[in-house]
Amino acid sequence: MEYMEYFLQIYGTLPRAGPGANALTRKAVELMTELPDSPRILDVGCGPGMQTIELLRVTSGTVLALDLIPDMLARVGARAERAGVSGRLETLQQDMNEMSFPPSSFDVVWSEGAIYFLGFEAGLRKVRPFVRPGGYVAVSEAVWLKPDPPPEVVDFWAEYPQIDTVPEKLAVIGRVGYEQVGHFVMPPTAWTENYYGPMEKRIAEKEPDWRGIPTAEAVLREARNEISVFRQYSDYFSYAFFVMQKQC
Ligand SMILES: C[S@@+](CC[C@H](N)C(=O)[O-])C[C@H]1O[C@@H](n2cnc3c(N)ncnc32)[C@H](O)[C@@H]1O
Repeated sequence: MEYMEYFLQIYGTLPRAGPGANALTRKAVELMTELPDSPRILDVGCGPGMQTIELLRVTSGTVLALDLIPDMLARVGARAERAGVSGRLETLQQDMNEMSFPPSSFDVVWSEGAIYFLGFEAGLRKVRPFVRPGGYVAVSEAVWLKPDPPPEVVDFWAEYPQIDTVPEKLAVIGRVGYEQVGHFVMPPTAWTENYYGPMEKRIAEKEPDWRGIPTAEAVLREARNEISVFRQYSDYFSYAFFVMQKQC
């Protein structure tokens, strides 16, 4: 098997594919006080779709869930069926770099733990035309919580040099031309309950069968390292939710 297949057997099977929680999704929705009755929402990088389903539950709107990986879209679809909200869900397999929608197609563009694939500023710029004036963009993004992280943390985040402080992220939001609506930092439970906790169980299940397979062991090593960096140094970094509005 290829690296990606092993990777998906760990990361592709978790309730979420990044930090977050339904309560935090709801908290971000509550910041959007001027939503229409049935908002049209684009969920960029939906992954397994925990937040997609919550958006469908807490609004009476429709969601277009977009992801590159067909398996992720299949999981979102199955979850929506189980939750009885599939009638308001559409899925789209697409590279977010290629996204193209008519101007003002959506009341909300949502992206939890995925806008970084475009880059924070580039991503906010890219989705802006898709949102109608007065509509919202809500994203979660990696942030530093305090200065001078130790070398292990710096190494871990070297892959995403755009991680920055909350004030710097807010400055980007202003520069792109959105009005800030609200923001909050995710608590450590957002990483452990739906993400690293289930990941640890999955690693333990796979470990015996994958012993001696170099590619598989590399996936397990990286997953263990990611969890270990978080468990030791979660006071240095987290994700924050940022909710912003496109001016009328
Ligand atoms: C870290 S996961 C977050 C998933 C989900 N939003 C969550 O919070 O559980 C990022 C998701 O973005 C998707 N993705 C990565 N690159 C992408 C791209 N270029 N276009 C579309 N989706 C992409 C991945 O397949 C994955 O499902």
